[in-house]
This record gives sequence, structure tokens and C-alpha cells, in this order.
Amino acid sequence: MSPDLSIQLAPQNSRGLLLSNPVMTSSGTFGYGTEYAELFDIQRLGAIVCKATTPEPREGNPQPRLFETTAGLLNSIGLQNIGVKALIKEKAPIWAGWQLPVIVNIAGDSVDDYAQLASELDDVDGISGIEVNISCPNVGAGGAAFGAYPEPAAEVTRAVRNATSLPVIVKLTPNTADIKEVAVAIAEAGADAVSLINTLKGMAIDIEKKRPEIGNIICGYSSPALKPVALAMVYEVAGAVNVPVIGCGGITCADDALEFIMAGASAVQVGMATFNNPRASLDVLEGIEGYMEKEGIKSLKEIVGAGRG
Ligand SMILES: Cc1cc2nc3c(=O)[nH]c(=O)nc-3n(C[C@H](O)[C@H](O)[C@H](O)COP(=O)(O)O)c2cc1C
Repeated sequence: MSPDLSIQLAPQNSRGLLLSNPVMTSSGTFGYGTEYAELFDIQRLGAIVCKATTPEPREGNPQPRLFETTAGLLNSIGLQNIGVKALIKEKAPIWAGWQLPVIVNIAGDSVDDYAQLASELDDVDGISGIEVNISCPNVGAGGAAFGAYPEPAAEVTRAVRNATSLPVIVKLTPNTADIKEVAVAIAEAGADAVSLINTLKGMAIDIEKKRPEIGNIICGYSSPALKPVALAMVYEVAGAVNVPVIGCGGITCADDALEFIMAGASAVQVGMATFNNPRASLDVLEGIEGYMEKEGIKSLKEIVGAGRG
């Protein structure tokens, strides 16, 4: 019998968020899913998280917005997206025909923006959950400003919680003094799950031109080098909250994902690894399946948190 990889990410929500397996794609690295549907069977994944969506369409920050460093990528996309109305009209009907859940990542400049987005997305066919992005390091207003401290993070969470019955995941920033405190405040404010981490703050300077490589100066840094940092944060947060934790940051293969699961993550998100290998998320899934078969593990739940020591 093949192992049971299914996982419930919103056990306290009456609608629930049941994934057939724990492998998700992370926001901003997998478009709307449609872009990858022709490259491999994306329906096999646990869930897709789409690019951050704002109340109005956004063109994002001026180019250049990506810069490759010795060990990783700086990005300053600035939340370029089609806006919530176009998402509901053009993308959700496609997702409604898919068997895997699609989660919409939302971002705003104010608490009201988040509440409005959550209420517009409530009861839209094809949308199974919301991921609240209070952790984007490369936008002026909102973004990580809400995620750095417990009280503003809880305020956004409460507003979203009151505006929708959809499962609510809140995505945490590593750019904070104590990620545990923020996570606890968010869980108490009604989040069904937390995901972590978003990018670290980073920058690069062109020493010939004597100016920052990216116009927006401070960017989001992602890299396989993030993994130990993200893993430690997942470990800490999973020990502090009683809602499911979704691990993300530097995952390039199944072994990485298994480390997150054993640290206490119920699911994982594959991010920039997709840029090197478009089917990285599927490779991660197949590797987890292979590991479980080899080790005789019947259910994923047996290994969630198994490596906490
Ligand atoms: C180009 C790019 C765009 C991103 N856009 C978003 C976004 O819109 N919303 C969000 O919550 N995270 C966004 N992220 C962060 C990723 O989802 C992920 O949290 C981060 O990159 C760490 O994971 P990784 O090391 O596996 O890439 C983006 C990351 C990259 C590289």
C-alpha cells in the first residue's frame, strides 16, 4: 500500500484545507499555476499559492528587479499583479476545474485593504484559502511593516479572519526580533495556520557605479543558504503555536523538505528552486514518497516533528 501523505492544514476551520500531500509552491515563484500546467502534471502537488494579489492591479517596481548574488537571488518585484477583480474573473474559473487547492496570497497597504481582499475572495469557486502576506520586504507601505511586530500582525489577522470563512494562513517575515512572539499573536488572532519564512532583507552595490544594484535598494533575498535559518525558525514556531506550520526557505530537494517536516512543519513550500528546475516541487514530492516507502512510514503524520530531539 502506498503511504498516506495527506494533511489537514486548517483543522479548526469548518471548511478545512485538506491537501493530498504536503508539497506546495510558494507565492511569487509559480505565477498563477497556469504557466506551469503545460510543463508537468501540477495536479499532483499538494497546493499552489499564487502571486501576491492587491486590491488594484500593480505594475511593480521599476526594472531591474532581480539580481543574482554569489549565493542566491535578490528580488524587488514590488507585488506586480493583475489585481483581485481580474484574478476572480480570469484565474479562479480555471482553478475551479482543478483538483488541487489554490491559495491566494494577499497584500495591502492598510488593514482595510487586507479585510477587503479577504471578503472579495470569500465564496469564490476555485479558491480554497488565503495566505496573508505581511512579510514582503520590498514595498513601501504595508508588507513587512505589519509582520515585524506582534500587535500589527494580530490586527491584520483579526481583520482577515472577520472578513472570510476561508482558511487563513499568515506568512511570517524572518526580519523580526522574535518570530515566535509574532506567530503566537497571529495564532491567537484566529489564523488557521502560519507559513514561514518570506525572504530575508538584502542588498547589493555596484562598486563601479557606486550605487545599489537594484533601484529599490532593499530587496528580498532567497537562496538555498536560507534553509538553516528558516529551519530554526520553523522549529521555534512549531514549538510555540498550536496551529499547523508550513515551512519554506531554501528548499531544493526532498531531503530539505523532510528536514522541515521533522522540525514540525505539516507542509512545505518550494520557492526559487522552481527557477532552476520548473518541476522542482514534483521532484520534492516524489522524493518524499520514495523516502517514506523506503523507511516503511505509512503516514506523513508519523514524521511531522519527529526530528525535534
Ligand atoms: C521573485 C520572487 C517573488 C516573490 N513574491 C512573493 C509574493 O508575491 N508573496 C509572498 O508572500 N512571497 C513572495 N516571495 C517569497 C517566496 O514565496 C518565499 O517565501 C521565499 O523566496 C523563500 O523561499 P525560497 O528560498 O524557497 O525561495 C517571492 C520570492 C521570489 C524569489
